[in-house]
Amino acid sequence: MKDILVTEDIAGQGMEALKEKFHVVFEPDLWGEPERLQALLPEFRAVIVRNQTRVTSSIIRAAPRLQVIGRAGAGLDNIDLEAASSAGIVVLYTPEQNSISVAELTLGMMIILARKIVPADRSTKSGHWERKAFTGTELYGKTLGIVGLGRIGYRVGRRATAFGMNMLAHDIYANPDAVLVSELSATMVDMEELLGRADYISCHVSLTEKTRGLFDYEMFCRMKPSAFFINTSRGEVVDEAALVKALKEERIAGAALDVRSEEPPDDSPLSGMDNVILTPHIGAFTGEGQERVVSSVCRDVAAVLNGKEPRNYFNLSRS
Ligand code: MLT
Repeated sequence: MKDILVTEDIAGQGMEALKEKFHVVFEPDLWGEPERLQALLPEFRAVIVRNQTRVTSSIIRAAPRLQVIGRAGAGLDNIDLEAASSAGIVVLYTPEQNSISVAELTLGMMIILARKIVPADRSTKSGHWERKAFTGTELYGKTLGIVGLGRIGYRVGRRATAFGMNMLAHDIYANPDAVLVSELSATMVDMEELLGRADYISCHVSLTEKTRGLFDYEMFCRMKPSAFFINTSRGEVVDEAALVKALKEERIAGAALDVRSEEPPDDSPLSGMDNVILTPHIGAFTGEGQERVVSSVCRDVAAVLNGKEPRNYFNLSRS
């Protein structure tokens, strides 16, 4: 009998351990074939996905044996949580296992933008030695505006503190009296103030109906012309056409995007811009981050299939 279907490229020691105990079917490209996924899933008790597999209500309804959905990552925007809960399916995820990796990438992007590392590298490799042209700025003394002070936003803030940055944060859910806010010496402000004062604006919100398209043209126009915008959360929170327009009009100084509204993206004017850094949703992709993610989700899937309680779950509503 088949137990677990893996629909994306998810590997590691945790997965090897799972294979010793359960019948695991590895279909790393299945995320791109929703009809085949819907046809195959009814045979399985568990499915393990990353962010590319869309686990829709019709896929869930068509899988009566399914007991558990394991999301190897933090964002749950690709899973119909309501449909899973009402079908009594446990939804697991890894809420913080990759957050250090994402925070480190975010800081890396800030430094790369501030010190013009990408154009300097390109110029030096093509035989030039242009020091003055690549005069950058320090992070020290600058203001970081964190939009979304959750597990990743907090870790970005902690690291930015070590660089001597001042901290503003906006989060509709965060308690302004929370210890983490004082630990960062952060000031909780409304969005308007954050956009107007920050030198770096880093986005760490989940994708919801409220945050979809949050960063529109008007938001970019409220930022300082010297500001850099960084997004390592979800591409859909940014209106990319608006960002392109804002960059062309020099409403902001530059941007770094690890995530895109379409992944993989179509051709975009962003690719031709020297003050823009683009990476292919690699925030979570470090050896350490992936090992934590895969071990956590595999251990928890095994727990559910064995009738035990998992550690990291969104819901436990088994009927
Ligand atoms: C996450 O949500 O954990 C990251 O964006 C990585 C991923 O989606 O796999």
